[in-house]
Amino acid sequence: MQRGMTNDRTECLCLSTLDNLNGGRQTGTNSGVPLHNVSILVIIMQSMIILGIETSCDETSAAVVQDGILRSNATAVQLVHSEHGGVVPELASRAHQRLMVPIVEDALRKASVDKKELTAIAAVYGPGLIGSILVGLSFGKAMAQGLGIPFIGVNHMEAHIFSNMIEDPKPSFPFVNLTVSGGHTQLVLVKDYFSCELLGETMDDAAGEAFDKVAKMLGVGYPGGPLIDKLAAKGNAKAVKFPRPYLEEGSLQFSFSGLKTSVLYYLRSIGFDRTAGMNEQFLSDIAASFQAAAVDVLIDKLLTAAKKYGVRDIAVCGGVSANSELRRRLETESKIHHLRLFIPKLDFCTDNGAMVAQVGYERMRKGFVSSLELTAEPDLQLN
Ligand code: KG4
Ligand code: ZN
Repeated sequence: MQRGMTNDRTECLCLSTLDNLNGGRQTGTNSGVPLHNVSILVIIMQSMIILGIETSCDETSAAVVQDGILRSNATAVQLVHSEHGGVVPELASRAHQRLMVPIVEDALRKASVDKKELTAIAAVYGPGLIGSILVGLSFGKAMAQGLGIPFIGVNHMEAHIFSNMIEDPKPSFPFVNLTVSGGHTQLVLVKDYFSCELLGETMDDAAGEAFDKVAKMLGVGYPGGPLIDKLAAKGNAKAVKFPRPYLEEGSLQFSFSGLKTSVLYYLRSIGFDRTAGMNEQFLSDIAASFQAAAVDVLIDKLLTAAKKYGVRDIAVCGGVSANSELRRRLETESKIHHLRLFIPKLDFCTDNGAMVAQVGYERMRKGFVSSLELTAEPDLQLN
């Protein structure tokens, strides 16, 4: 059903036609997920209501999308990790278990939707922390089975790309997408809903990982990205000239490990002791100088890719897209280069159920559903 159509329109989705589309074979979908072994299943629905579940790292989130329109999004950020200076996988899994039911109930309540009204349930099956993924995935599959409705496995990286398609305006295909999260830095040419090409990615640390590690070096705490962002706002970005790792001319690959190490060597060279009393201005200057180097590289490669593939629309997503300096610079550069910029609102930059529910909705429209045998794939690739 297209966005904008009224909810009282009855739609029939015949999943048995999937066999015909696939020449009668039980082939996988383009994400490699096997189709549900359904031969004669006709779902008659007033509208399509999808519950999306995201538990791949340290956010427990659920959302409801009805006919492509977001009805609710409920996210719990796990605070248990802050005293450890980083995400502790075992603690994350346990926190997901505690939070799963209340968060799903919250999402359904905010959407004024009863679980019996759901058309399908979508949950992330990778990439991410295996224990964390398993909590949301098992919950989603069990709930779908209990309700007798389809289950849809969602690729976490595909979901981030969809975070710019939750609300209007949406980018037009083809567009170049930059995903900058705690575990990934990827440039992707998005040709259609489920057709994309990986153009480049990081060869070592992800952008978010570099922010988190620099925050740790400075002893400013966790989560590092937002803290560096806040400190940098008061700092001098020209205080220290850290290297910009562009790699070869025109390369769309990234490498942030050298930049991170330069910060470490600089701090060592001046005898910095993170346990000693903090000089707020010094910390702000280092944060701003590091952030400027990272932002320069991200923007340069995004613009290079946009030019190379001749697109009009560019999109940025993932936790680091919440960074205020990156957002500010992107606004300026996109205007200079006559590109239309798409960047999610802050709630949808970091991990969230809304992007998962939106992928679930588009997959359901195309009849792509998953087997209940689908299991967690911590290293799941984009294509
Ligand atoms: O997308 P995300 O929530 O989870 C992953 O899929 O990894 O991204 C989390 C990452 C963390 O590294 C976090 O430090 C970073 O996003 N991050 C930021 C900001 N907010 C979150 N980095 C820079 N500036 C921010 N404002
Ligand atoms: Zn993520």
